[in-house]
Amino acid sequence: MKTSKVSGFYKLSRKERLEFVKNFAELTDEEISALNEATVDFGIVDRMIENAVGVMSVPLGVAVNFLINGKDYLIPMAVEETSVIAAASNAAKIARAKGGFKTGSTEPVMIGQIQLVNSKNSEKAKKLILENKEKILEMANEKDPMLVKFGGGARDINVRILDNGMVVTHLLVDVRDAMGANAVNTMCEAVAPFIEKITDGRVYLRILSNLAIHRISRATAVFPKDIVGEEVVDGIMQAYLFAKHDPYRCATHNKGIMNGVDAVVIASGNDFRAVESGAHAYASLNGYSPLTKYEKNKDGDIVGSIELPTPVGLIGGATKVHPTAKICIKILGVKTARELGEIIAAVGLAQNFAALKALASEGIQKGHMGLHARNIAIMAGAKDEMIDKISEQMVKEKKIRIDRAKEIIKELE
Ligand code: MEV
Repeated sequence: MKTSKVSGFYKLSRKERLEFVKNFAELTDEEISALNEATVDFGIVDRMIENAVGVMSVPLGVAVNFLINGKDYLIPMAVEETSVIAAASNAAKIARAKGGFKTGSTEPVMIGQIQLVNSKNSEKAKKLILENKEKILEMANEKDPMLVKFGGGARDINVRILDNGMVVTHLLVDVRDAMGANAVNTMCEAVAPFIEKITDGRVYLRILSNLAIHRISRATAVFPKDIVGEEVVDGIMQAYLFAKHDPYRCATHNKGIMNGVDAVVIASGNDFRAVESGAHAYASLNGYSPLTKYEKNKDGDIVGSIELPTPVGLIGGATKVHPTAKICIKILGVKTARELGEIIAAVGLAQNFAALKALASEGIQKGHMGLHARNIAIMAGAKDEMIDKISEQMVKEKKIRIDRAKEIIKELE
């Protein structure tokens, strides 16, 4: 049985890490050399965006120890911030002791909005749109026979009247394994003239909503008291209550969640802005709230859960174009967009738990300092084994500064 449980993964050389990933995900030699190259052919980049001039590389790592619904996962994470991957791996290790993460999700249904203005009678316009629901769905589905063939398509509509009288039709589209923006926007544009025709109003916007409340992923995990420590369990509960009662803290709490979420979304070639806006809007539905919840169970263990919209896909966009994203999806071994969304939820929970655990005990800086000190040592001109020596000394002295690094270099020379 293959396992993602490894201790001391960070101590391995890059070659050894790649070897582990290769065996775990059955990567080919070509895929390994693509990861090794750590860049993307400019021809691909030039087709992805306009006015391309180069590539902005982001570090890519893998989080280990994730057990989700009884299956082992290695999680590729693209992130520039120190400690994120170590923290997620550590939380996953703790959750593993009680069976890892359990996840679930809704069907992959996205919302498209069609904005109707200047109607003299909003209620009447709403009624007319609803009366023509079947026709509207049919027109929408005619635009994407492939999606319908694969079991997706426009499913339903609902109509909202805003406080300024605008009549907003929501087209609910099951987008299967796509992120769905293209399918939804095309359908909205296709049905808009008909909505205009049957009502007395004028249509302006026809675009998906990033508040994807029908495309939700959930994850939960038990973090045992025996590993976390009773006092830290209490500290984590206090941290959670802090976020629940204070938007200033809640923003940071949710940012920590998004550290993990975005890293997987980016690695898989998905649109992290869509996931970000959806997550924060979802968190704000009943007053800005934490995306995670914590409670103690009868054994005193801490039970964490998360729920957030996960508008991510496995087809379309960069997922099938960006060579590194394609390899990351292979490493994840996900077969559906729902499975990817659920993994993202589990990583968000792990990331948040790790942050709260650190904040409720030794604080966040200790973990950061090692790598920060290494970066300072390198900036000061240290090379090879000098880097570790200098950073260790600076951490010991609690003086992580470039002037001190330069002094130590001189002393060692
Ligand atoms: C830093 O990127 C994220 C944290 O601030 C999250 C949190 O405070 O919960 C550590």
